[in-house]
Amino acid sequence: MKVLMVASVIAFEVGTFGVANADEALRREATALFGQVKASTAAPSPQVELGRALFWDTRLSADGKTACASCHPARDWGADRRRFSPDARGALTSRHSPTIFNSVSQPMLRWLGDRKNGADQAESSMTGSMGFASKDAGVAKLAELEYMPKFRAAFPQDAQPLSAANYARALASYEATLTTPAPFDRFLAGDDSALTEPQKAGLKTFVSTGCAGCHNGVNLGGTTLQKFGLTKDYWLETGSEKPDPGRFAVTKKEEDRYVFRVPMLRNVAKTAPYFHDGSVERLDRAVRVMASVQLGRTLDDAAVASIVSFLDSLTGDVPSNYAPPGRQPEM
Ligand code: HEC
Ligand code: HEC
Repeated sequence: MKVLMVASVIAFEVGTFGVANADEALRREATALFGQVKASTAAPSPQVELGRALFWDTRLSADGKTACASCHPARDWGADRRRFSPDARGALTSRHSPTIFNSVSQPMLRWLGDRKNGADQAESSMTGSMGFASKDAGVAKLAELEYMPKFRAAFPQDAQPLSAANYARALASYEATLTTPAPFDRFLAGDDSALTEPQKAGLKTFVSTGCAGCHNGVNLGGTTLQKFGLTKDYWLETGSEKPDPGRFAVTKKEEDRYVFRVPMLRNVAKTAPYFHDGSVERLDRAVRVMASVQLGRTLDDAAVASIVSFLDSLTGDVPSNYAPPGRQPEM
């Protein structure tokens, strides 16, 4: 009896050791391909505070009704559940609004990768989504709304604190605080129990299927530009009247036709609809479309479900400092 018990304890320990080893091997493989998102450690500062005030202020737009947050609301994890979003001129955006969370570590922004960083993006929003006729008109609005003291506090060294460049800087500093650590990051940091067994299996499927060939790095995307391999029939089927030419619109080079930035997959379970044209409502369908058009593979239901359960582990919390006190509920 005693001998038997010893034998079973040994068997148990070998078993546990085997599992721990498997988790460690998976962690090593994942660490080589991806990276950890960490919670922001930035101390509250006048600049970040100003950025948040600007981001949520509907008055700072041509129609007086559109804030940055109108198209990047908290309820949608900083993306927008609408396929396209109405801008301050009343027109719909030409592409789907992606989440701004974690965008601080993106080497290029927007579907065409045509903005260098958050400040670059924010400055051009003034005359874009926010609808001002010029940056000067945007700055005049800031003065009219008595933002001067906040700009002075945020940029004490500047002789002219109220400027389009500082508007952009403040927004970018605020965006830099909006990171969303997720169960996947806790797994990478060494916690085996942060992922469920189906999620670990899903991580393996994600890698073995070839998804990580494009979706890699800290945000599982965003580092390269790739062709979206859809046919014209698909565009018609999904209701896009005409295919979006992608980066061709910027470079006019034929090889850039239908080329888009590889989007990040962080919080992807919360940011439907999918793709630059918001043409796909469900995550499982988006995974199937990807396998077929990017990799020429048809996945069975089990493989799709497995990948989806891994993608769920990339969901973090909406950062606690995202919304200011008293925000409107529809944002
Ligand atoms: C009318 C809706 C709308 C408004 C208002 C709006 N955005 Fe966006 N935002 C979008 C859309 C759509 C995109 C993607 C555009 C594209 O790629 O062509 C985007 C992209 C972004 C990105 C890039 C994210 C990434 O990962 O590539 C950032 C950052 C961003 N917006 C911040 C802001 C800020 C800051 C403001 C306010 C100054 C703002 N947005 C106002 C709709 C909006
Ligand atoms: C050859 C590069 C490549 C490969 C391989 C690839 N993707 Fe993508 N993925 C992209 C590009 C590019 C887009 C953006 C397409 C667009 O909207 O124009 C995208 C978009 C997505 C989206 C939508 C994200 C969003 O926010 O709209 C999901 C989800 C996705 N991919 C998952 C996967 C999965 C799962 C796999 C493996 C089965 C995979 N991808 C393989 C390049 C790739």
